[in-house]
Amino acid sequence: MRCFLILLLAATAAFAQNSYSASHAWWEPNQEEFFPWDSEYDNPTGLLRIANPNGSFRTGGHPFFVPLGSNGRACITCHQPSNAMSLSRETIRKRWLDTNGKDPLFAAIDGSNCPTLPQSQRASHSLLLDRGLFRVSLPWPPKDVTPDFRIEVLTDPTTCNADPRQISVYRRPRMSANLATLTPGPNGPVLMADGRAPSLRAQAIDAILVHQQAAHPPTDAQLTRILDFELQVVATQYADNRGGLTAQFNQPEPGTTGAFRASVHRGKDLFSNRCASCHQPGTSRWSRLPQAESPELPLFKITCNNGRVTTTQDPGRALITGKCNDVGALVIPQFHGLAARAPYFTNGSAATVEDLIDSYQRLNIRFQPEEKRDLVNYLLTL
Ligand code: HEC
Ligand code: HEC
Repeated sequence: MRCFLILLLAATAAFAQNSYSASHAWWEPNQEEFFPWDSEYDNPTGLLRIANPNGSFRTGGHPFFVPLGSNGRACITCHQPSNAMSLSRETIRKRWLDTNGKDPLFAAIDGSNCPTLPQSQRASHSLLLDRGLFRVSLPWPPKDVTPDFRIEVLTDPTTCNADPRQISVYRRPRMSANLATLTPGPNGPVLMADGRAPSLRAQAIDAILVHQQAAHPPTDAQLTRILDFELQVVATQYADNRGGLTAQFNQPEPGTTGAFRASVHRGKDLFSNRCASCHQPGTSRWSRLPQAESPELPLFKITCNNGRVTTTQDPGRALITGKCNDVGALVIPQFHGLAARAPYFTNGSAATVEDLIDSYQRLNIRFQPEEKRDLVNYLLTL
Protein backbone atom coordinates (compact mmCIF):
# COMPACT_ATOMS: atom_id res chain seq x y z
CA MET A 1 0.00 0.00 0.00
CA ARG A 2 2.75 2.40 1.03
CA CYS A 3 4.73 1.52 -2.04
CA PHE A 4 1.66 2.17 -4.20
CA LEU A 5 1.19 5.60 -2.62
CA ILE A 6 4.78 6.58 -3.34
CA LEU A 7 4.39 5.48 -6.92
CA LEU A 8 1.21 7.48 -7.23
CA LEU A 9 2.88 10.59 -5.81
CA ALA A 10 5.83 10.18 -8.16
CA ALA A 11 3.47 9.88 -11.12
CA THR A 12 1.58 13.01 -10.09
CA ALA A 13 4.81 14.96 -9.68
CA ALA A 14 5.99 13.83 -13.11
CA PHE A 15 2.69 14.96 -14.61
CA ALA A 16 2.92 18.36 -12.93
CA GLN A 17 6.47 18.79 -14.21
CA ASN A 18 5.35 18.10 -17.77
CA SER A 19 2.52 20.59 -17.67
CA TYR A 20 3.75 24.06 -18.60
CA SER A 21 1.76 27.14 -17.75
CA ALA A 22 1.26 29.77 -20.43
CA SER A 23 3.57 32.28 -18.74
CA HIS A 24 6.56 29.90 -18.98
CA ALA A 25 5.73 28.70 -22.42
CA TRP A 26 8.52 30.35 -24.45
CA TRP A 27 11.25 27.91 -25.45
CA GLU A 28 14.58 29.76 -25.98
CA PRO A 29 17.09 28.58 -28.57
CA ASN A 30 20.04 26.98 -26.75
CA GLN A 31 17.81 26.23 -23.75
CA GLU A 32 19.37 23.15 -22.20
CA GLU A 33 16.52 21.07 -20.84
CA PHE A 34 14.69 17.77 -21.21
CA PHE A 35 12.18 17.74 -24.02
CA PRO A 36 9.71 15.39 -22.33
CA TRP A 37 8.09 12.39 -23.97
CA ASP A 38 4.76 13.96 -23.16
CA SER A 39 3.89 17.53 -22.19
CA GLU A 40 0.82 19.75 -21.92
CA TYR A 41 0.53 23.48 -22.52
CA ASP A 42 -2.32 25.81 -21.54
CA ASN A 43 -4.24 27.70 -24.16
CA PRO A 44 -7.43 29.79 -23.93
CA THR A 45 -9.86 26.85 -24.30
CA GLY A 46 -7.92 23.93 -22.86
CA LEU A 47 -4.68 22.00 -23.03
CA LEU A 48 -2.51 21.17 -25.99
CA ARG A 49 -0.53 17.96 -25.81
CA ILE A 50 2.90 17.51 -27.35
CA ALA A 51 3.72 13.82 -27.65
CA ASN A 52 7.31 12.88 -28.35
CA PRO A 53 6.99 9.09 -28.53
CA ASN A 54 10.67 8.35 -29.28
CA GLY A 55 11.33 9.46 -25.72
CA SER A 56 12.66 12.45 -23.82
CA PHE A 57 16.03 13.88 -24.78
CA ARG A 58 18.22 16.80 -23.78
CA THR A 59 17.81 19.76 -26.13
CA GLY A 60 21.42 20.99 -25.68
CA GLY A 61 23.21 20.55 -29.01
CA HIS A 62 20.07 19.27 -30.77
CA PRO A 63 19.94 20.93 -34.23
CA PHE A 64 16.21 21.74 -33.97
CA PHE A 65 16.91 23.62 -30.73
CA VAL A 66 20.24 25.39 -31.30
CA PRO A 67 20.97 28.24 -33.70
CA LEU A 68 22.76 26.93 -36.80
CA GLY A 69 23.15 30.24 -38.58
CA SER A 70 24.18 33.81 -37.90
CA ASN A 71 21.07 35.48 -36.46
CA GLY A 72 20.52 33.55 -33.22
CA ARG A 73 17.36 31.78 -34.36
CA ALA A 74 16.76 28.05 -34.16
CA CYS A 75 13.86 26.05 -35.58
CA ILE A 76 12.29 26.21 -32.12
CA THR A 77 12.14 30.04 -32.35
CA CYS A 78 9.27 29.87 -34.85
CA HIS A 79 7.95 26.40 -34.05
CA GLN A 80 7.07 26.57 -30.35
CA PRO A 81 5.56 23.58 -28.50
CA SER A 82 3.05 25.80 -26.64
CA ASN A 83 1.74 27.02 -30.01
CA ALA A 84 1.33 23.56 -31.56
CA MET A 85 4.81 23.82 -33.15
CA SER A 86 3.73 27.00 -34.94
CA LEU A 87 3.69 30.54 -33.46
CA SER A 88 0.68 32.53 -32.27
CA ARG A 89 0.33 36.28 -32.57
CA GLU A 90 -0.04 36.47 -28.80
CA THR A 91 3.37 34.84 -28.30
CA ILE A 92 4.98 37.10 -30.91
CA ARG A 93 3.61 40.21 -29.20
CA LYS A 94 4.74 39.00 -25.80
CA ARG A 95 8.29 38.43 -27.14
CA TRP A 96 8.31 41.95 -28.57
CA LEU A 97 7.39 43.42 -25.18
CA ASP A 98 9.66 41.12 -23.14
CA THR A 99 12.75 41.80 -25.30
CA ASN A 100 12.02 45.33 -26.47
CA GLY A 101 11.90 44.04 -30.02
CA LYS A 102 15.39 42.52 -29.78
CA ASP A 103 14.52 38.82 -29.94
CA PRO A 104 16.11 37.09 -32.98
CA LEU A 105 12.52 36.30 -33.94
CA PHE A 106 12.35 39.87 -35.29
CA ALA A 107 15.48 39.54 -37.47
CA ALA A 108 15.36 41.95 -40.41
CA ILE A 109 15.58 39.24 -43.07
CA ASP A 110 11.98 37.97 -42.71
CA GLY A 111 10.85 39.08 -39.23
CA SER A 112 10.25 42.58 -40.54
CA ASN A 113 8.08 43.90 -43.37
CA CYS A 114 11.29 44.54 -45.33
CA PRO A 115 14.98 44.36 -44.31
CA THR A 116 15.60 47.89 -45.63
CA LEU A 117 13.17 49.46 -43.11
CA PRO A 118 14.39 51.00 -39.79
CA GLN A 119 14.44 47.88 -37.63
CA SER A 120 13.95 49.49 -34.21
CA GLN A 121 10.46 50.75 -35.09
CA ARG A 122 7.40 48.68 -34.34
CA ALA A 123 5.82 49.75 -37.64
CA SER A 124 8.59 47.93 -39.53
CA HIS A 125 7.45 44.64 -37.94
CA SER A 126 3.71 45.30 -38.14
CA LEU A 127 2.87 42.27 -40.29
CA LEU A 128 4.57 39.93 -37.81
CA LEU A 129 3.12 41.67 -34.73
CA ASP A 130 -0.39 42.22 -36.07
CA ARG A 131 -0.96 39.20 -38.31
CA GLY A 132 1.79 36.73 -37.34
CA LEU A 133 3.34 36.89 -40.84
CA PHE A 134 6.92 36.25 -41.95
CA ARG A 135 8.25 37.53 -45.26
CA VAL A 136 8.81 34.84 -47.88
CA SER A 137 10.95 36.07 -50.76
CA LEU A 138 10.98 34.02 -53.97
CA PRO A 139 12.95 34.51 -57.20
CA TRP A 140 10.97 35.55 -60.27
CA PRO A 141 10.83 33.90 -62.69
CA PRO A 142 11.50 30.56 -60.95
CA LYS A 143 14.73 28.83 -61.97
CA ASP A 144 14.44 26.93 -65.30
CA VAL A 145 10.77 27.91 -65.74
CA THR A 146 9.18 30.05 -68.47
CA PRO A 147 6.02 31.39 -66.82
CA ASP A 148 2.79 31.61 -68.81
CA PHE A 149 1.80 34.84 -67.04
CA ARG A 150 3.19 38.26 -66.12
CA ILE A 151 3.28 39.77 -62.61
CA GLU A 152 2.94 43.49 -62.01
CA VAL A 153 3.08 45.05 -58.57
CA LEU A 154 -0.03 47.20 -58.09
CA THR A 155 0.65 48.24 -54.48
CA ASP A 156 3.80 47.78 -52.42
CA PRO A 157 2.95 48.86 -48.85
CA THR A 158 6.00 47.11 -47.37
CA THR A 159 8.40 48.55 -50.02
CA CYS A 160 9.80 45.05 -50.52
CA ASN A 161 8.49 44.44 -54.06
CA ALA A 162 10.52 47.11 -55.82
CA ASP A 163 12.77 44.58 -57.59
CA PRO A 164 10.70 42.63 -60.16
CA ARG A 165 13.13 39.68 -59.95
CA GLN A 166 12.23 38.96 -56.34
CA ILE A 167 8.63 38.59 -55.14
CA SER A 168 7.88 39.03 -51.42
CA VAL A 169 4.74 37.50 -49.94
CA TYR A 170 3.84 37.25 -46.24
CA ARG A 171 2.85 33.98 -44.59
CA ARG A 172 2.10 32.26 -41.27
CA PRO A 173 4.50 29.59 -39.98
CA ARG A 174 3.05 26.13 -40.50
CA MET A 175 3.11 23.38 -37.84
CA SER A 176 6.28 21.29 -37.70
CA ALA A 177 4.34 18.44 -36.07
CA ASN A 178 2.12 15.54 -37.16
CA LEU A 179 4.23 15.49 -40.32
CA ALA A 180 4.28 11.70 -40.59
CA THR A 181 0.49 11.65 -40.94
CA LEU A 182 -0.08 14.63 -43.29
CA THR A 183 -1.96 13.50 -46.38
CA PRO A 184 0.91 12.52 -48.62
CA GLY A 185 1.35 13.44 -52.28
CA PRO A 186 3.29 11.08 -54.56
CA ASN A 187 6.56 12.25 -52.93
CA GLY A 188 5.54 12.49 -49.28
CA PRO A 189 3.70 15.36 -47.60
CA VAL A 190 3.23 18.53 -49.67
CA LEU A 191 5.07 21.20 -47.68
CA MET A 192 4.88 25.00 -47.43
CA ALA A 193 1.91 27.11 -48.60
CA ASP A 194 3.13 26.91 -52.20
CA GLY A 195 4.40 23.32 -52.01
CA ARG A 196 7.93 24.46 -52.90
CA ALA A 197 9.76 22.06 -50.57
CA PRO A 198 10.06 18.68 -52.30
CA SER A 199 10.90 16.92 -49.01
CA LEU A 200 11.34 17.56 -45.30
CA ARG A 201 15.07 17.37 -45.84
CA ALA A 202 15.02 20.09 -48.52
CA GLN A 203 12.71 22.15 -46.30
CA ALA A 204 15.12 21.97 -43.35
CA ILE A 205 18.14 22.96 -45.47
CA ASP A 206 16.21 25.93 -46.82
CA ALA A 207 15.04 26.99 -43.34
CA ILE A 208 18.63 26.96 -42.04
CA LEU A 209 20.01 28.94 -45.00
CA VAL A 210 17.14 31.45 -45.16
CA HIS A 211 15.43 31.90 -41.75
CA GLN A 212 18.64 31.28 -39.80
CA GLN A 213 20.95 32.98 -42.33
CA ALA A 214 23.57 30.24 -42.20
CA ALA A 215 26.62 30.50 -44.46
CA HIS A 216 26.72 26.73 -44.99
CA PRO A 217 24.08 24.02 -45.32
CA PRO A 218 23.67 21.69 -42.31
CA THR A 219 25.49 18.36 -42.07
CA ASP A 220 23.78 15.04 -42.80
CA ALA A 221 23.94 14.19 -39.10
CA GLN A 222 22.14 17.43 -38.20
CA LEU A 223 19.47 16.84 -40.85
CA THR A 224 18.90 13.30 -39.63
CA ARG A 225 18.32 14.51 -36.08
CA ILE A 226 15.94 17.26 -37.21
CA LEU A 227 13.91 14.83 -39.32
CA ASP A 228 13.90 12.13 -36.62
CA PHE A 229 12.38 14.69 -34.26
CA GLU A 230 9.91 16.20 -36.74
CA LEU A 231 8.59 12.88 -37.99
CA GLN A 232 7.47 11.65 -34.60
CA VAL A 233 6.38 14.75 -32.68
CA VAL A 234 2.58 15.05 -32.41
CA ALA A 235 0.61 18.16 -31.43
CA THR A 236 -3.13 17.98 -30.73
CA GLN A 237 -5.66 19.60 -28.44
CA TYR A 238 -5.80 17.16 -25.53
CA ALA A 239 -8.43 18.58 -23.22
CA ASP A 240 -11.07 21.29 -23.31
CA ASN A 241 -11.96 23.40 -20.27
CA ARG A 242 -15.65 22.63 -20.81
CA GLY A 243 -15.61 19.15 -22.34
CA GLY A 244 -12.75 17.35 -20.57
CA LEU A 245 -10.33 15.00 -22.31
CA THR A 246 -10.87 15.02 -26.08
CA ALA A 247 -10.19 11.26 -26.17
CA GLN A 248 -13.35 10.76 -24.09
CA PHE A 249 -15.66 12.85 -26.27
CA ASN A 250 -17.51 9.75 -27.43
CA GLN A 251 -18.56 8.98 -23.87
CA PRO A 252 -21.83 10.62 -22.81
CA GLU A 253 -21.60 12.73 -19.64
CA PRO A 254 -24.24 14.47 -17.56
CA GLY A 255 -24.36 18.25 -17.18
CA THR A 256 -22.35 20.93 -18.96
CA THR A 257 -19.56 18.55 -19.96
CA GLY A 258 -22.06 16.37 -21.80
CA ALA A 259 -23.70 19.41 -23.42
CA PHE A 260 -20.32 20.56 -24.70
CA ARG A 261 -19.49 17.12 -26.10
CA ALA A 262 -22.86 17.01 -27.89
CA SER A 263 -22.11 20.45 -29.38
CA VAL A 264 -18.75 19.20 -30.69
CA HIS A 265 -20.49 16.25 -32.36
CA ARG A 266 -23.00 18.56 -34.03
CA GLY A 267 -20.09 20.78 -35.13
CA LYS A 268 -18.37 17.79 -36.66
CA ASP A 269 -21.50 16.93 -38.67
CA LEU A 270 -21.82 20.55 -39.81
CA PHE A 271 -18.22 20.46 -40.96
CA SER A 272 -18.79 17.23 -42.93
CA ASN A 273 -21.92 18.62 -44.55
CA ARG A 274 -20.90 22.21 -45.26
CA CYS A 275 -17.11 22.47 -45.36
CA ALA A 276 -15.78 19.12 -46.51
CA SER A 277 -16.13 19.80 -50.25
CA CYS A 278 -12.65 21.36 -50.06
CA HIS A 279 -11.53 19.62 -46.88
CA GLN A 280 -11.90 15.93 -47.66
CA PRO A 281 -9.22 13.78 -46.12
CA GLY A 282 -7.25 11.77 -48.61
CA THR A 283 -7.86 14.05 -51.59
CA SER A 284 -5.46 16.61 -53.03
CA ARG A 285 -4.63 19.25 -50.47
CA TRP A 286 -4.37 22.09 -52.99
CA SER A 287 -7.19 24.56 -53.04
CA ARG A 288 -8.07 28.18 -53.69
CA LEU A 289 -9.88 30.51 -51.35
CA PRO A 290 -10.84 34.02 -52.39
CA GLN A 291 -9.66 36.34 -49.61
CA ALA A 292 -10.74 39.89 -48.84
CA GLU A 293 -8.06 42.39 -49.89
CA SER A 294 -5.83 43.72 -47.09
CA PRO A 295 -4.30 47.17 -47.69
CA GLU A 296 -1.23 46.26 -45.59
CA LEU A 297 -0.25 43.41 -47.96
CA PRO A 298 1.19 43.80 -51.48
CA LEU A 299 -1.23 43.48 -54.40
CA PHE A 300 -0.16 41.83 -57.64
CA LYS A 301 -1.79 41.95 -61.06
CA ILE A 302 -1.50 38.71 -63.00
CA THR A 303 -1.87 38.76 -66.79
CA CYS A 304 -1.96 35.27 -68.26
CA ASN A 305 -0.84 34.48 -71.80
CA ASN A 306 -4.41 33.31 -72.47
CA GLY A 307 -5.64 36.84 -71.74
CA ARG A 308 -7.04 36.20 -68.24
CA VAL A 309 -6.33 39.04 -65.79
CA THR A 310 -6.63 38.68 -62.00
CA THR A 311 -5.28 40.29 -58.85
CA THR A 312 -3.92 38.46 -55.82
CA GLN A 313 -1.91 39.16 -52.65
CA ASP A 314 -0.18 35.77 -52.81
CA PRO A 315 0.10 33.95 -56.16
CA GLY A 316 0.79 30.76 -54.15
CA ARG A 317 1.72 27.67 -56.16
CA ALA A 318 2.12 29.75 -59.35
CA LEU A 319 5.26 31.38 -57.89
CA ILE A 320 6.88 27.94 -58.14
CA THR A 321 5.37 26.42 -61.31
CA GLY A 322 4.97 29.64 -63.34
CA LYS A 323 1.53 28.39 -64.40
CA CYS A 324 -1.45 30.72 -64.72
CA ASN A 325 -3.71 27.84 -63.63
CA ASP A 326 -1.93 27.68 -60.26
CA VAL A 327 -2.44 31.34 -59.33
CA GLY A 328 -3.79 31.53 -55.78
CA ALA A 329 -3.58 27.78 -55.13
CA LEU A 330 -2.33 27.03 -51.59
CA VAL A 331 -1.59 23.84 -49.69
CA ILE A 332 -4.34 23.63 -47.06
CA PRO A 333 -2.76 23.69 -43.57
CA GLN A 334 -3.54 20.92 -41.12
CA PHE A 335 -6.34 21.54 -38.60
CA HIS A 336 -4.67 20.44 -35.36
CA GLY A 337 -3.93 22.73 -32.43
CA LEU A 338 -6.07 25.61 -33.73
CA ALA A 339 -6.74 26.72 -30.13
CA ALA A 340 -3.01 27.33 -29.65
CA ARG A 341 -1.99 29.12 -32.83
CA ALA A 342 -4.25 32.00 -33.92
CA PRO A 343 -4.43 33.83 -36.33
CA TYR A 344 -5.53 31.60 -39.21
CA PHE A 345 -5.14 31.26 -42.95
CA THR A 346 -1.78 31.64 -44.70
CA ASN A 347 -2.17 35.42 -44.65
CA GLY A 348 -3.26 35.56 -40.99
CA SER A 349 -6.51 37.30 -41.92
CA ALA A 350 -8.74 35.44 -39.44
CA ALA A 351 -7.92 36.53 -35.87
CA THR A 352 -10.20 33.92 -34.28
CA VAL A 353 -11.98 30.71 -35.29
CA GLU A 354 -15.23 32.75 -35.30
CA ASP A 355 -13.67 35.13 -37.86
CA LEU A 356 -12.49 32.15 -39.91
CA ILE A 357 -16.04 30.79 -40.10
CA ASP A 358 -17.47 34.25 -40.90
CA SER A 359 -14.98 34.62 -43.76
CA TYR A 360 -16.75 31.76 -45.56
CA GLN A 361 -19.82 33.98 -45.97
CA ARG A 362 -18.01 35.18 -49.08
CA LEU A 363 -18.61 31.69 -50.46
CA ASN A 364 -22.22 31.84 -49.27
CA ILE A 365 -21.56 29.34 -46.47
CA ARG A 366 -23.60 30.74 -43.59
CA PHE A 367 -24.53 29.44 -40.14
CA GLN A 368 -27.13 30.15 -37.47
CA PRO A 369 -25.57 31.39 -34.20
CA GLU A 370 -25.96 27.97 -32.49
CA GLU A 371 -24.49 26.20 -35.52
CA LYS A 372 -21.53 28.58 -35.50
CA ARG A 373 -20.93 27.86 -31.82
CA ASP A 374 -20.99 24.10 -32.50
CA LEU A 375 -18.53 24.46 -35.36
CA VAL A 376 -16.20 26.64 -33.26
CA ASN A 377 -16.33 24.11 -30.41
CA TYR A 378 -15.48 21.30 -32.82
CA LEU A 379 -12.55 23.12 -34.47
CA LEU A 380 -11.05 24.17 -31.12
CA THR A 381 -10.83 20.58 -29.92
CA LEU A 382 -8.79 19.15 -32.83
C1 HEC B 1 11.76 32.73 -38.77
C2 HEC B 1 10.80 31.73 -38.46
C3 HEC B 1 11.09 30.30 -38.85
C4 HEC B 1 12.17 29.52 -38.51
C5 HEC B 1 13.41 29.93 -37.75
C6 HEC B 1 11.91 28.21 -39.04
N1 HEC B 1 10.68 28.19 -39.66
FE1 HEC B 1 9.73 26.57 -40.41
N2 HEC B 1 8.31 27.76 -41.22
C7 HEC B 1 8.24 29.13 -41.08
C8 HEC B 1 7.27 29.68 -42.00
C9 HEC B 1 6.88 31.13 -42.16
C10 HEC B 1 6.74 28.58 -42.73
C11 HEC B 1 5.70 28.62 -43.85
C12 HEC B 1 6.35 29.16 -45.14
C13 HEC B 1 5.49 29.06 -46.36
O1 HEC B 1 4.37 28.52 -46.28
O2 HEC B 1 5.92 29.51 -47.45
C14 HEC B 1 7.41 27.39 -42.19
C15 HEC B 1 7.13 26.08 -42.59
C16 HEC B 1 7.75 24.96 -42.08
C17 HEC B 1 7.39 23.59 -42.41
C18 HEC B 1 6.28 23.16 -43.36
C19 HEC B 1 5.12 22.49 -42.69
C20 HEC B 1 3.99 22.21 -43.66
O3 HEC B 1 3.03 21.53 -43.28
O4 HEC B 1 4.03 22.69 -44.80
C21 HEC B 1 8.26 22.77 -41.72
C22 HEC B 1 8.30 21.26 -41.73
C23 HEC B 1 9.17 23.63 -40.99
N3 HEC B 1 8.81 24.96 -41.22
C24 HEC B 1 10.24 23.19 -40.24
C25 HEC B 1 11.29 24.04 -39.82
C26 HEC B 1 12.61 23.56 -39.40
C27 HEC B 1 13.04 22.12 -39.34
C28 HEC B 1 13.32 24.67 -39.04
C29 HEC B 1 14.75 24.75 -38.59
C30 HEC B 1 15.72 24.15 -39.48
C31 HEC B 1 12.44 25.83 -39.25
N4 HEC B 1 11.24 25.39 -39.75
C32 HEC B 1 12.78 27.13 -38.94
C33 HEC B 1 8.97 29.87 -40.17
C34 HEC B 1 10.16 29.46 -39.60
C1 HEC C 1 -13.74 26.51 -51.54
C2 HEC C 1 -12.99 25.57 -50.75
C3 HEC C 1 -13.15 25.64 -49.24
C4 HEC C 1 -14.30 25.49 -48.48
C5 HEC C 1 -15.72 25.26 -48.95
C6 HEC C 1 -13.86 25.57 -47.10
N1 HEC C 1 -12.51 25.76 -47.03
FE1 HEC C 1 -11.42 25.92 -45.35
N2 HEC C 1 -9.74 26.23 -46.45
C7 HEC C 1 -9.68 26.28 -47.84
C8 HEC C 1 -8.35 26.67 -48.25
C9 HEC C 1 -7.85 26.84 -49.68
C10 HEC C 1 -7.60 26.83 -47.08
C11 HEC C 1 -6.15 27.30 -46.97
C12 HEC C 1 -6.18 28.79 -47.07
C13 HEC C 1 -4.94 29.46 -46.56
O1 HEC C 1 -4.05 28.78 -46.04
O2 HEC C 1 -4.89 30.69 -46.66
C14 HEC C 1 -8.49 26.53 -45.96
C15 HEC C 1 -8.11 26.53 -44.64
C16 HEC C 1 -8.93 26.20 -43.58
C17 HEC C 1 -8.49 26.08 -42.21
C18 HEC C 1 -7.04 26.12 -41.72
C19 HEC C 1 -6.70 27.43 -41.13
C20 HEC C 1 -5.28 27.49 -40.62
O3 HEC C 1 -4.70 28.58 -40.68
O4 HEC C 1 -4.71 26.51 -40.15
C21 HEC C 1 -9.61 25.79 -41.47
C22 HEC C 1 -9.66 25.55 -39.96
C23 HEC C 1 -10.73 25.78 -42.37
N3 HEC C 1 -10.28 26.02 -43.64
C24 HEC C 1 -12.03 25.55 -41.98
C25 HEC C 1 -13.12 25.53 -42.86
C26 HEC C 1 -14.48 25.48 -42.42
C27 HEC C 1 -14.95 25.46 -40.98
C28 HEC C 1 -15.24 25.47 -43.55
C29 HEC C 1 -16.75 25.44 -43.65
C30 HEC C 1 -17.39 26.56 -43.03
C31 HEC C 1 -14.34 25.51 -44.70
N4 HEC C 1 -13.06 25.56 -44.22
C32 HEC C 1 -14.74 25.49 -46.02
C33 HEC C 1 -10.72 26.00 -48.69
C34 HEC C 1 -12.03 25.81 -48.33
